[in-house]
Amino acid sequence: MANRDIPKQRLNMAGLRKSMRLFGFMKTADRWLLALGTLFLAITAGTALLFPELLGNMVDSYSDINKLQKTATAFLYLFLAQAVFSFLRIGLYVRVAENLTAGLRNRLYQSVLQQNMDFFHQNRIGDLISRFTADIGQIQDTFTSNLAMFLRQFMVIIGGIAYLFFTSNTLSLYMLASVPVVVVISMFFGRFIRKIGKQVQELTGNNSVIAEETFTGIQSVKAFTNETFEMSRYGKDVEILRKKSIYRGLLRGAFSSFIIVCLFGSIVWLIFMGLGMVRSGEMALGELISFMFFTGFVGGSIGGMAEQFVQIQKTLGAVERVLDLIDKPVETNEAPNLENTFSGGVRFEHVGFCYPGRPDYTVLEDVSFQIGAGKTLAIVGPSGAGKSTIINLMYRFYEPIKGSIYLGDKSIAEAHVYDLRRQLALVPQEIILFGGSIYDNILYGNPSADKEAVISSAKQANAHEFISAFPEGYETLVGDRGIKLSGGQRQRIAIARAILRNPQLLILDEATSSLDSESEELVQSALKTLMKDRTSIVIAHRLSTIRHADTILVLKQGRIIEQGSHEALMGLADGYYRSMVERQQDHTDFINHQENP
Ligand SMILES: Nc1ncnc2c1ncn2[C@@H]1O[C@H](COP(=O)(O)OP(=O)(O)O)[C@@H](O)[C@H]1O
Ligand SMILES: [Mg+2]
Repeated sequence: MANRDIPKQRLNMAGLRKSMRLFGFMKTADRWLLALGTLFLAITAGTALLFPELLGNMVDSYSDINKLQKTATAFLYLFLAQAVFSFLRIGLYVRVAENLTAGLRNRLYQSVLQQNMDFFHQNRIGDLISRFTADIGQIQDTFTSNLAMFLRQFMVIIGGIAYLFFTSNTLSLYMLASVPVVVVISMFFGRFIRKIGKQVQELTGNNSVIAEETFTGIQSVKAFTNETFEMSRYGKDVEILRKKSIYRGLLRGAFSSFIIVCLFGSIVWLIFMGLGMVRSGEMALGELISFMFFTGFVGGSIGGMAEQFVQIQKTLGAVERVLDLIDKPVETNEAPNLENTFSGGVRFEHVGFCYPGRPDYTVLEDVSFQIGAGKTLAIVGPSGAGKSTIINLMYRFYEPIKGSIYLGDKSIAEAHVYDLRRQLALVPQEIILFGGSIYDNILYGNPSADKEAVISSAKQANAHEFISAFPEGYETLVGDRGIKLSGGQRQRIAIARAILRNPQLLILDEATSSLDSESEELVQSALKTLMKDRTSIVIAHRLSTIRHADTILVLKQGRIIEQGSHEALMGLADGYYRSMVERQQDHTDFINHQENP
């Protein structure tokens, strides 16, 4: 089950109050349906309580055929009522639970999707996903069944005990002194055994991890002649596992002995005392049978309620986590202004920045530069210098600590993030295609574009040819479940997407760093088309690709150390850029020399 790993939470008022907010997420109609369902639930609990009573009557009327037939008919009605109301109850609860979880899922998704980028860096994706699967699943289970079972068991316990006292005070006191006590003890006992069982499971897991590690690294083990060491390490672990397993086995044995002696013992003892009362005429035999059935119901309900209680505690934790996420303020609440447009170049003025997660580490310091409209700016520098961070700021994934950034003549800090991002297109370093067709993936750049525009973009991106070569053409599925495209092919799809977007500012983050030389040529020529007369920021590893940029920024440890055209920078005798170019040239010459000796 999905909810295995959900920690349970102590029941407290704050948690309970928070969970009550769930009812606020229900539509009014659903709240009424839930109330009606609970009424039906009470009816089914009531009919369940009639069952032992009727059974007793049946036994007592065994000699009177008329009475016997009447009781049998009553049974029939009882089962019918039980069946109808229990079906209606389930139908209503399921409906309410599913409406609630669908609403929660949507609210949660909306809230998470609209969080800022920092949120996604601070939270692991797996944790976020488990809010959707485990936590929402837990809430769903609780509203579908746990809550109903809990209420029903509660009613059965109250009604059952009342009935017991109605039948016989003395025997009820005997019963209360024995059965619930045994049930509660065996519950704790059972839970303890499960805990030990879990430990055994974990130890078994550890044990195989040791073996796996050793076998995987067998070369190192043998090379260092550490076989003896590994054997004793494994042996020690096996010994711990052996002891724990024996302990578990003995506990299990003790548990079944306990059940036999105490639970069955107390039942037999009750029957014995009851039969004494039957003999002395204090109660009828049928009454004793009803009594014993009720005892079973009450005992079972006490045990079951405890189990439901654990589930409800887990649900409180799940509700709290889900609501905390739903309540989290989103990136922006204002509506975008679709009229708002930008045009012109980009200007950074004395921008300083550090990531919220590492406030004492300065990533950018006093970064100032300017690109005219339609021009290309290249950013180079060692990895970790802060190149991608400049892009993050341009997108307002993060806000600068100092300085300001302009797109055209407008400060981007004053623009709505949607208005700003609509002007930009990014071809990232690592291209992730969504599950779907190639067509849909290109369309992602501008969902309102038509088919002609998509194909024309693909042509300009040098992608049309390879796409058409697939048997299903543009409808070919890509992503996890689709076909696997090469790096260059993915890159060209991303370029087609950017062309379709027709952005004011184009951003390429090391777009050609992982390509073989053939697809690099195709990608380069596609990029040339894309960048023509368009303001562009290009981050590049291969310096040969940015030789013709209008301005080159050299970034090192978050500072601009050189800035100018290729020629100007090559003119600096001890320039960093010049040394980078020369180093890459040597490397290229070396490779060429190796290939054509
Ligand atoms: N989300 C983040 N949180 C904290 N530090 C980050 C984050 N992203 C990048 N950094 C750090 O900022 C510095 C610059 O990173 P980045 O801009 O990605 O460098 P580049 O793109 O030049 O290789 C690095 O030291 C990196 O570790
Ligand atoms: Mg980078």
